Amino acid sequence: MRGMAYQLTVNGRAVVADVEGDTPLLWVLREELGLTGTKFGCGAALCGACTVHVDGVAVRSCSLPVEGAVGMPITTIEGLSADRSHPLQAAWIAEQVPQCGYCQSGMIMAAAALLREKSQPTDAEIDEAMTNLCRCGTYVRVRRAIKRAAGLA
Ligand code: FES
Ligand code: FES
Repeated sequence: MRGMAYQLTVNGRAVVADVEGDTPLLWVLREELGLTGTKFGCGAALCGACTVHVDGVAVRSCSLPVEGAVGMPITTIEGLSADRSHPLQAAWIAEQVPQCGYCQSGMIMAAAALLREKSQPTDAEIDEAMTNLCRCGTYVRVRRAIKRAAGLA
């Protein structure tokens, strides 16, 4: 038996997810909507691979029940820009940030939330905001790309 029909707005599109209310938003995005750019890492709000924006705020979607996202705009990596032209996407390519790539959607979404709040972040602000984990150790390039996107490098 399925749960309720939850009406969501994902990347500007109205969608319905027929799931239990405590289903993590991540599963709805990946399994119900096919938006597989958002990744599953730890499932425990630790790694940030699953980061999306809910109402403009970076959220770890593995740990947010879908019922907590109703009525708020949800943005995934697929919706960050129509044609990969977001300044962070351009900077990520220019700095060749990814290694295996698994954490990178979450990294970019966390960085996008940071730049929306602070258009020219300091190193300390970047460190504070970017708590996502990267097992390939791309942290130095992540920081460079954020600065490039912010016009600081
Ligand atoms: S999968 Fe969500 S924080 Fe790791
Ligand atoms: S690029 Fe491989 S985990 Fe970050």
